[in-house]
Amino acid sequence: MFIVSKKIGILTSGGDCAGLNAVIRAATFRAVNKYGWKIYGIKDGTLGLVSNPINVVELKPSDFNGTQFRMGGTFLGTNNKGFPQNSDKKIDYSNKIIQGFKSLGLDALIGIGGDGSMKILQSLTKMGNINFVGIPKTIDNDVENNELSIGYDTAVDVATNALDMLQPTAASHRRVMILEVMGRDAGHIALNAGIAGGADVILIPEIDYSLSSIAKHIENLKSQGRNHSLVVVAEAVKKEDGTKAFVEYADGEIRLGGIGSYIGDEIAKITKAETRVTVLGHVQRGAQPTHRDRLIASAFGIYAVDLIANKKYNRVVVWQNRAVKDVDLDTIAGKSKTIKKNDPLITVANGLGIYVGELD
Ligand code: F6P
Repeated sequence: MFIVSKKIGILTSGGDCAGLNAVIRAATFRAVNKYGWKIYGIKDGTLGLVSNPINVVELKPSDFNGTQFRMGGTFLGTNNKGFPQNSDKKIDYSNKIIQGFKSLGLDALIGIGGDGSMKILQSLTKMGNINFVGIPKTIDNDVENNELSIGYDTAVDVATNALDMLQPTAASHRRVMILEVMGRDAGHIALNAGIAGGADVILIPEIDYSLSSIAKHIENLKSQGRNHSLVVVAEAVKKEDGTKAFVEYADGEIRLGGIGSYIGDEIAKITKAETRVTVLGHVQRGAQPTHRDRLIASAFGIYAVDLIANKKYNRVVVWQNRAVKDVDLDTIAGKSKTIKKNDPLITVANGLGIYVGELD
C-alpha cells in the first residue's frame, strides 16, 4: 500500500565521513521499497543544484550492489565551502540552489550534514520554502541534542588504533609520542580515543592546561618506572599564550593544525624527553565505517524517510538514549555540543590517572 507518490532529494554536505553511503542506501530502500517514491541523489552537496545541467542521479535499490555501505566517503560527493571550486567566493548562490531544487519538482529534501551545514541548509530551506529533514554526520560529534553523529565512532576507532600503534614504538625508543587529532572546537575524539587508547595526557579545547603540569605528570610516570608516554591533543587546543595553531595552505586558506608540534617541542624543552608528533588528519574521515556507524546510518536513513511520509518537516533525526528521535532544526543549526568539565568521561579519565588539564 503506497502513500501518495513523492519525489525526494538527498545530499551530503560539509566534510565527508564514514557511514554516508550507508545512510543513502537506507533512505533509498525505504523511499522506494516501502513508499514507492522516487529518490534523487544530488551530487557534490548543494553544488549539484548550481551546476548546469543540474547534477543529480535517480537512486534505485538495485544501484546498491552490497559494497557501497561498507565504504568510507560519499559516492554522491560533497562540498564544505558553500561555493563551487575556482568561483567567486563572494557570490551568493542561494537563489541558484533553490531554483535548482524547484526545477526538479522535488517534494522534500534530506540533507546529511554537521552543525555548519545544518545552519546553511536551514537558511536555504526557509528562504526557498523547502520541506527539509536533516541527518547529523560529523566526525567531530558536536551536533547539539544528539549523542551520536554518523562518522564519529569510526574516527574514534581510527584514533584509538593509532595509539595502539604508537605505544610499542614509544616504548621501544623511550619516547613521548604526541598524537594530534581532529574535532574542531570539540574534544570528543581526543577524549574518547585517549581513554580507549591508553593515553597519559589528553588535551581538549574545552579545558585549559599548563605545560608545567604536563611535564610533571610525564616525569612522575617516569619515576614510577614508565619509560614512555602517550599524549593526545585535539587540533583546536590553544597554545599557552591563548592562540590557536594554524597552517596556511597554498590556496591562501588557513586551517587548524600544528598544536601537536608545539606541545611536542615544549615538552621536550622542559623534560628533555625525546618527543615525536603524529598528525592523524583525514585518515579519521576515510576509513571503513564501524558497525555502530553503519547501524545509526541505517536507522537515521529510514527514520528520515518516515518523517517525510508523516509530513514532519524542519526536523533533524537524532540519537538519544539508544533510540532514534527527531528534534526541531532550530535547536541544532549553528549550535555546537562541546565537553563540560563535569562530563562523566572526564571523571573516568581522572580515575585512570590521565592528565586532562586544570580541572579546579
Ligand atoms: O568537521 C570535520 C573536520 O574533519 C574537522 O575535524 C577538521 O578540522 C575539518 O573538518 C577539516 O576540514 P577539511 O576537509 O576542509 O580539511
